Amino acid sequence: MRQLFISGGSSGLGLRLTVDSLRDEAHVTATYQSRPDALFFLQKQYSALHPVATELAHPSPTQDWPDVIDAAILCAGSIRNQLMLKETSDDFATHLNTHLGGTMKLCQALYPRLCKGKNPHLVIVSSRSAYEGNIGQAAYSASRAGMVGLAKTLAREWAEVGIKVNIIFPGWMKTRQTLAMPSSIRADYDARNVLGHVNTLGEISRFIRFLITTQNISGQIFNLDSRINTN
Ligand SMILES: NC(=O)c1ccc[n+]([C@@H]2O[C@H](COP(=O)([O-])OP(=O)(O)OC[C@H]3O[C@@H](n4cnc5c(N)ncnc54)[C@H](OP(=O)(O)O)[C@@H]3O)[C@@H](O)[C@H]2O)c1
Repeated sequence: MRQLFISGGSSGLGLRLTVDSLRDEAHVTATYQSRPDALFFLQKQYSALHPVATELAHPSPTQDWPDVIDAAILCAGSIRNQLMLKETSDDFATHLNTHLGGTMKLCQALYPRLCKGKNPHLVIVSSRSAYEGNIGQAAYSASRAGMVGLAKTLAREWAEVGIKVNIIFPGWMKTRQTLAMPSSIRADYDARNVLGHVNTLGEISRFIRFLITTQNISGQIFNLDSRINTN
């Protein structure tokens, strides 16, 4: 049975990946920050699920983390909304420290476990705002861009031990993070999508679960959004 580590497993994409992976008969260690209810409910049905509390700002491995991990999928994160001219250095630094610094620390903690894994994969969920930017999301976009640089560097550094590292831009998903946005913004995202509708959590989950079975793909960005860049 494959041993998966899914950060942000308590909500949105991470939760969907957790459920689908358990149905695929994987063992799943899924992290939560503040809302473990969905994971503990799911655990009643799947004994192969291990929920663990993890704060991204200082993700220390606990005895609940498995010694061997075949694939780690990093979904944990939150958006920070603030116009750049109103942003404070402290808040900007805190967001970067949590999301980019925390992802780096998480990767360091995962490395020895992935080294022992079979066909090991690390998948980092970033955002197309890393390349496109987003009004009011300077800190978020900067941290997501940093994740791209981090992942591409890890793909080079960890290739010698066989760890594949890839990046996902999931596109706009209907999750807790985005459903709170004004409907005009959501309608604009739909309108700019060539298919006229956004991707589904199920399809993104299926793509990632396929990616972690591949043998020869590393250092790549997969943009799963059908908005076409104009530059
Ligand atoms: N939704 C979108 O349209 C979209 C688009 C592009 C990229 N993304 C990225 O895709 C990923 C998943 O998004 P989502 O929409 O599925 O998000 P979501 O439903 O809001 O779930 C976020 C997950 O991250 C955890 N989390 C948040 N802040 C954390 C922290 N400081 N420390 C530890 N865990 C933390 C949450 O834990 P608790 O719930 O337990 O607190 C939750 O499990 C995120 O990284 C997001 O930025 C999302």
